[in-house]
Amino acid sequence: MSTPANKPASADVWTVRRILEWTTGFLKQKGVESPRLEAELLLAHARQCQRIRLYTDIDDELSEAERTQMRESVQRRARREPLAYIIGTREFYGRSFEVGKGVLIPRPETEILVDACLEHIPREEPRHIAEVGFGSGCIAVTIARQRPRCSVMATDLSPRAMEIATLNVQKLNVADRVTLMAGDVLEPLLDGGVQFDGLISNPPYIREDEREALQPEVAQHEPPEALFAGHDGLDIVRRIAADAPKILKPGGFILLELDPAQCETVSALLQESGFKSTAIRRDLSGTSRIVEGIL
Ligand SMILES: C[S@@+](CC[C@H](N)C(=O)[O-])C[C@H]1O[C@@H](n2cnc3c(N)ncnc32)[C@H](O)[C@@H]1O
Repeated sequence: MSTPANKPASADVWTVRRILEWTTGFLKQKGVESPRLEAELLLAHARQCQRIRLYTDIDDELSEAERTQMRESVQRRARREPLAYIIGTREFYGRSFEVGKGVLIPRPETEILVDACLEHIPREEPRHIAEVGFGSGCIAVTIARQRPRCSVMATDLSPRAMEIATLNVQKLNVADRVTLMAGDVLEPLLDGGVQFDGLISNPPYIREDEREALQPEVAQHEPPEALFAGHDGLDIVRRIAADAPKILKPGGFILLELDPAQCETVSALLQESGFKSTAIRRDLSGTSRIVEGIL
Protein backbone atom coordinates (compact mmCIF):
# COMPACT_ATOMS: atom_id res chain seq x y z
CA MET A 1 0.00 0.00 0.00
CA SER A 2 1.66 3.26 -1.13
CA THR A 3 1.28 6.61 0.60
CA PRO A 4 -1.04 8.72 -1.56
CA ALA A 5 0.90 11.48 -3.33
CA ASN A 6 -1.22 14.22 -1.76
CA LYS A 7 -0.72 12.95 1.79
CA PRO A 8 2.27 14.65 3.45
CA ALA A 9 4.72 12.37 5.27
CA SER A 10 4.22 14.01 8.64
CA ALA A 11 5.53 12.93 12.02
CA ASP A 12 2.13 11.29 12.70
CA VAL A 13 2.40 8.90 9.78
CA TRP A 14 4.14 5.62 10.61
CA THR A 15 5.91 4.88 7.37
CA VAL A 16 8.35 2.00 6.92
CA ARG A 17 11.20 4.52 7.05
CA ARG A 18 10.00 6.17 10.21
CA ILE A 19 9.29 2.97 12.10
CA LEU A 20 12.69 1.57 11.13
CA GLU A 21 14.43 4.67 12.44
CA TRP A 22 12.43 4.71 15.64
CA THR A 23 12.84 0.99 16.32
CA THR A 24 16.58 1.10 15.62
CA GLY A 25 17.05 3.88 18.20
CA PHE A 26 14.85 2.12 20.75
CA LEU A 27 16.58 -1.27 20.43
CA LYS A 28 19.98 0.41 20.62
CA GLN A 29 18.97 2.06 23.88
CA LYS A 30 17.97 -1.38 25.20
CA GLY A 31 21.43 -2.82 24.48
CA VAL A 32 20.54 -4.90 21.39
CA GLU A 33 23.75 -5.54 19.40
CA SER A 34 22.60 -5.06 15.78
CA PRO A 35 19.60 -2.73 16.22
CA ARG A 36 19.12 -1.71 12.57
CA LEU A 37 19.28 -5.27 11.23
CA GLU A 38 16.91 -6.49 13.92
CA ALA A 39 14.49 -3.60 13.33
CA GLU A 40 14.40 -4.62 9.66
CA LEU A 41 13.86 -8.29 10.45
CA LEU A 42 11.05 -7.53 12.89
CA LEU A 43 9.34 -5.21 10.42
CA ALA A 44 9.73 -7.67 7.54
CA HIS A 45 8.10 -10.26 9.81
CA ALA A 46 5.23 -7.89 10.70
CA ARG A 47 4.66 -7.10 6.99
CA GLN A 48 5.24 -10.73 5.96
CA CYS A 49 7.68 -9.62 3.29
CA GLN A 50 11.36 -10.08 2.50
CA ARG A 51 13.74 -7.59 4.09
CA ILE A 52 14.66 -6.10 0.69
CA ARG A 53 10.99 -5.13 0.13
CA LEU A 54 11.21 -2.65 3.00
CA TYR A 55 13.45 -0.51 0.81
CA THR A 56 11.19 -0.54 -2.22
CA ASP A 57 8.24 0.28 0.08
CA ILE A 58 10.15 2.71 2.30
CA ASP A 59 7.45 5.43 2.19
CA ASP A 60 4.49 3.07 2.65
CA GLU A 61 2.32 3.64 5.67
CA LEU A 62 1.90 0.65 8.00
CA SER A 63 -1.56 -0.85 8.44
CA GLU A 64 -3.11 -0.94 11.91
CA ALA A 65 -2.45 -4.70 12.14
CA GLU A 66 1.20 -4.28 11.16
CA ARG A 67 1.67 -1.54 13.74
CA THR A 68 0.10 -3.66 16.48
CA GLN A 69 2.27 -6.64 15.61
CA MET A 70 5.38 -4.45 15.42
CA ARG A 71 4.62 -2.86 18.80
CA GLU A 72 4.32 -6.29 20.45
CA SER A 73 7.46 -7.65 18.78
CA VAL A 74 9.55 -4.62 19.71
CA GLN A 75 8.39 -4.82 23.33
CA ARG A 76 9.41 -8.49 23.45
CA ARG A 77 12.79 -7.76 21.90
CA ALA A 78 13.35 -4.86 24.30
CA ARG A 79 12.95 -7.40 27.12
CA ARG A 80 15.85 -9.17 25.39
CA GLU A 81 13.80 -12.11 24.16
CA PRO A 82 15.82 -13.58 21.25
CA LEU A 83 14.80 -12.41 17.79
CA ALA A 84 14.44 -16.00 16.59
CA TYR A 85 11.72 -16.72 19.20
CA ILE A 86 9.81 -13.62 18.12
CA ILE A 87 9.90 -14.33 14.40
CA GLY A 88 9.66 -18.10 14.98
CA THR A 89 12.41 -19.27 12.62
CA ARG A 90 16.21 -19.42 12.32
CA GLU A 91 18.41 -20.24 9.32
CA PHE A 92 20.71 -23.22 9.72
CA TYR A 93 22.83 -24.60 6.89
CA GLY A 94 20.80 -22.55 4.39
CA ARG A 95 17.41 -23.87 5.54
CA SER A 96 14.73 -22.26 7.65
CA PHE A 97 14.04 -24.10 10.94
CA GLU A 98 11.04 -23.51 13.19
CA VAL A 99 12.11 -22.45 16.67
CA GLY A 100 10.28 -21.38 19.79
CA LYS A 101 10.55 -20.92 23.51
CA GLY A 102 11.82 -24.07 25.22
CA VAL A 103 14.16 -25.06 22.39
CA LEU A 104 17.76 -23.99 21.82
CA ILE A 105 18.19 -21.63 18.86
CA PRO A 106 20.60 -23.23 16.34
CA ARG A 107 24.04 -21.56 16.37
CA PRO A 108 26.37 -20.97 13.40
CA GLU A 109 29.20 -22.89 15.18
CA THR A 110 27.09 -26.02 14.99
CA GLU A 111 27.24 -25.90 11.18
CA ILE A 112 30.95 -26.74 11.57
CA LEU A 113 30.03 -29.77 13.68
CA VAL A 114 27.68 -30.89 10.90
CA ASP A 115 30.43 -30.34 8.29
CA ALA A 116 32.79 -32.54 10.31
CA CYS A 117 30.15 -35.27 10.38
CA LEU A 118 29.44 -35.04 6.65
CA GLU A 119 33.14 -35.65 5.96
CA HIS A 120 32.62 -39.14 7.39
CA ILE A 121 29.54 -39.93 5.29
CA PRO A 122 29.95 -40.74 1.58
CA ARG A 123 27.12 -39.16 -0.44
CA GLU A 124 25.80 -42.32 -2.00
CA GLU A 125 26.29 -44.93 0.72
CA PRO A 126 23.86 -45.87 3.48
CA ARG A 127 24.98 -44.88 6.97
CA HIS A 128 23.35 -44.91 10.42
CA ILE A 129 24.03 -41.91 12.61
CA ALA A 130 22.95 -41.33 16.23
CA GLU A 131 22.47 -37.94 17.86
CA VAL A 132 22.07 -36.96 21.53
CA GLY A 133 20.02 -33.82 22.26
CA PHE A 134 18.26 -33.02 18.98
CA GLY A 135 16.68 -29.72 20.16
CA SER A 136 15.13 -28.08 17.09
CA GLY A 137 16.31 -31.04 14.99
CA CYS A 138 18.76 -28.85 13.06
CA ILE A 139 21.65 -31.38 13.13
CA ALA A 140 19.67 -34.55 12.40
CA VAL A 141 17.60 -32.92 9.65
CA THR A 142 20.62 -31.31 7.98
CA ILE A 143 22.59 -34.57 7.91
CA ALA A 144 19.61 -36.36 6.36
CA ARG A 145 19.09 -33.60 3.79
CA GLN A 146 22.78 -33.47 2.83
CA ARG A 147 23.18 -37.26 2.64
CA PRO A 148 20.16 -38.85 0.94
CA ARG A 149 21.03 -42.44 1.94
CA CYS A 150 21.75 -41.68 5.56
CA SER A 151 19.36 -42.31 8.47
CA VAL A 152 19.55 -40.58 11.84
CA MET A 153 18.17 -41.71 15.21
CA ALA A 154 18.17 -38.87 17.71
CA THR A 155 17.23 -38.53 21.39
CA ASP A 156 16.13 -35.65 23.61
CA LEU A 157 14.52 -35.41 27.03
CA SER A 158 12.54 -32.25 26.32
CA PRO A 159 8.89 -32.59 25.22
CA ARG A 160 9.07 -29.11 23.64
CA ALA A 161 12.11 -30.16 21.60
CA MET A 162 10.13 -33.19 20.43
CA GLU A 163 7.26 -30.92 19.30
CA ILE A 164 9.45 -28.47 17.38
CA ALA A 165 11.86 -31.03 15.91
CA THR A 166 8.86 -33.05 14.69
CA LEU A 167 7.65 -29.96 12.81
CA ASN A 168 11.08 -29.48 11.23
CA VAL A 169 11.45 -33.13 10.26
CA GLN A 170 8.09 -32.92 8.47
CA LYS A 171 8.58 -29.48 6.96
CA LEU A 172 11.99 -30.46 5.55
CA ASN A 173 10.74 -33.85 4.31
CA VAL A 174 13.02 -36.26 6.14
CA ALA A 175 10.45 -38.13 8.26
CA ASP A 176 11.35 -41.37 6.47
CA ARG A 177 14.99 -41.16 7.61
CA VAL A 178 15.03 -39.21 10.88
CA THR A 179 13.66 -40.93 14.00
CA LEU A 180 13.15 -38.75 17.06
CA MET A 181 13.14 -40.59 20.38
CA ALA A 182 12.17 -39.24 23.81
CA GLY A 183 14.75 -40.34 26.35
CA ASP A 184 17.81 -39.81 28.47
CA VAL A 185 21.17 -39.49 26.64
CA LEU A 186 21.70 -42.81 24.76
CA GLU A 187 19.18 -44.93 26.69
CA PRO A 188 16.61 -45.26 23.88
CA LEU A 189 19.34 -46.59 21.57
CA LEU A 190 21.08 -49.06 23.89
CA ASP A 191 18.73 -52.00 23.36
CA GLY A 192 17.64 -51.19 19.82
CA GLY A 193 20.09 -53.55 18.18
CA VAL A 194 21.34 -50.90 15.72
CA GLN A 195 25.11 -50.45 15.46
CA PHE A 196 25.85 -46.90 14.33
CA ASP A 197 28.54 -45.58 12.02
CA GLY A 198 28.76 -42.35 13.96
CA LEU A 199 27.46 -40.42 16.96
CA ILE A 200 27.11 -36.65 16.99
CA SER A 201 26.10 -34.27 19.76
CA ASN A 202 25.98 -30.62 20.67
CA PRO A 203 25.25 -31.41 24.31
CA PRO A 204 24.55 -29.01 27.16
CA TYR A 205 28.08 -28.07 28.31
CA ILE A 206 27.98 -24.77 30.22
CA ARG A 207 29.19 -24.75 33.83
CA GLU A 208 26.60 -23.76 36.46
CA ASP A 209 28.84 -20.90 37.61
CA GLU A 210 28.87 -19.34 34.12
CA ARG A 211 25.16 -18.50 34.33
CA GLU A 212 25.79 -14.90 35.46
CA ALA A 213 28.13 -14.15 32.54
CA LEU A 214 25.64 -15.14 29.83
CA GLN A 215 23.76 -12.63 27.65
CA PRO A 216 20.18 -12.02 28.90
CA GLU A 217 18.86 -13.53 25.64
CA VAL A 218 20.45 -16.84 26.62
CA ALA A 219 20.27 -16.82 30.43
CA GLN A 220 16.68 -15.59 30.73
CA HIS A 221 15.05 -17.06 27.65
CA GLU A 222 16.73 -20.24 26.40
CA PRO A 223 15.96 -23.55 28.15
CA PRO A 224 18.39 -24.28 31.04
CA GLU A 225 18.38 -28.03 30.26
CA ALA A 226 19.86 -27.23 26.84
CA LEU A 227 22.66 -25.16 28.36
CA PHE A 228 23.88 -26.32 31.75
CA ALA A 229 25.53 -29.58 32.72
CA GLY A 230 26.82 -29.54 36.28
CA HIS A 231 29.78 -27.92 38.04
CA ASP A 232 32.25 -28.51 35.17
CA GLY A 233 29.71 -28.64 32.32
CA LEU A 234 30.55 -32.25 31.55
CA ASP A 235 27.72 -34.21 33.25
CA ILE A 236 26.09 -35.18 29.94
CA VAL A 237 29.37 -35.56 28.01
CA ARG A 238 30.66 -38.09 30.58
CA ARG A 239 27.54 -40.21 30.06
CA ILE A 240 27.81 -39.96 26.27
CA ALA A 241 31.49 -40.97 26.38
CA ALA A 242 30.75 -43.96 28.64
CA ASP A 243 27.90 -45.36 26.52
CA ALA A 244 29.05 -44.44 23.00
CA PRO A 245 31.21 -47.57 22.51
CA LYS A 246 28.10 -49.73 23.19
CA ILE A 247 26.22 -48.36 20.15
CA LEU A 248 29.05 -47.70 17.68
CA LYS A 249 30.55 -50.12 15.17
CA PRO A 250 34.30 -50.73 15.47
CA GLY A 251 35.93 -47.83 13.62
CA GLY A 252 32.84 -45.67 14.22
CA PHE A 253 33.23 -41.96 14.95
CA ILE A 254 32.04 -39.58 17.66
CA LEU A 255 31.84 -35.80 17.26
CA LEU A 256 31.11 -33.47 20.19
CA GLU A 257 30.73 -29.69 20.21
CA LEU A 258 32.24 -28.22 23.39
CA ASP A 259 33.60 -25.17 25.13
CA PRO A 260 37.23 -24.62 24.03
CA ALA A 261 38.43 -25.12 27.63
CA GLN A 262 36.85 -28.60 27.77
CA CYS A 263 38.36 -30.10 24.62
CA GLU A 264 41.53 -31.58 26.13
CA THR A 265 39.66 -33.11 29.07
CA VAL A 266 37.03 -34.65 26.80
CA SER A 267 39.67 -35.99 24.45
CA ALA A 268 41.21 -37.85 27.43
CA LEU A 269 37.74 -39.04 28.55
CA LEU A 270 37.09 -40.58 25.13
CA GLN A 271 40.42 -42.38 25.20
CA GLU A 272 39.58 -43.80 28.64
CA SER A 273 36.29 -45.06 27.21
CA GLY A 274 38.09 -47.01 24.50
CA PHE A 275 38.34 -44.58 21.55
CA LYS A 276 41.61 -45.42 19.76
CA SER A 277 42.29 -41.97 18.39
CA THR A 278 41.01 -38.50 19.15
CA ALA A 279 41.52 -35.08 17.59
CA ILE A 280 40.47 -31.53 18.39
CA ARG A 281 39.00 -29.48 15.56
CA ARG A 282 38.95 -25.70 15.42
CA ASP A 283 36.27 -23.31 14.21
CA LEU A 284 36.82 -20.60 11.57
CA SER A 285 38.37 -18.25 14.14
CA GLY A 286 40.92 -20.93 15.12
CA THR A 287 39.24 -21.75 18.45
CA SER A 288 39.04 -25.39 19.60
CA ARG A 289 35.38 -26.36 19.37
CA ILE A 290 34.95 -29.99 18.46
CA VAL A 291 36.39 -33.23 19.77
CA GLU A 292 36.41 -36.15 17.40
CA GLY A 293 37.11 -39.76 18.31
CA ILE A 294 37.43 -42.98 16.32
CA LEU A 295 36.55 -46.23 18.08
C1 LIG B 1 22.82 -27.52 23.31
S1 LIG B 1 21.22 -28.18 22.95
C2 LIG B 1 21.45 -28.73 21.27
C3 LIG B 1 20.22 -28.70 20.43
C4 LIG B 1 20.46 -28.94 18.94
N1 LIG B 1 21.04 -30.24 18.69
C5 LIG B 1 21.36 -27.85 18.37
O1 LIG B 1 22.54 -28.12 18.11
O2 LIG B 1 20.89 -26.72 18.20
C6 LIG B 1 21.23 -29.65 23.91
C7 LIG B 1 19.98 -30.49 23.85
O3 LIG B 1 20.18 -31.63 24.70
C8 LIG B 1 18.96 -31.92 25.35
N2 LIG B 1 19.26 -32.68 26.59
C9 LIG B 1 19.65 -32.21 27.79
N3 LIG B 1 19.83 -33.23 28.66
C10 LIG B 1 19.55 -34.37 27.98
C11 LIG B 1 19.55 -35.75 28.33
N4 LIG B 1 19.89 -36.15 29.57
N5 LIG B 1 19.20 -36.64 27.39
C12 LIG B 1 18.86 -36.25 26.12
N6 LIG B 1 18.85 -34.96 25.74
C13 LIG B 1 19.19 -34.02 26.66
C14 LIG B 1 18.32 -30.58 25.60
O4 LIG B 1 16.92 -30.71 25.79
C15 LIG B 1 18.71 -29.81 24.32
O5 LIG B 1 17.71 -29.93 23.35
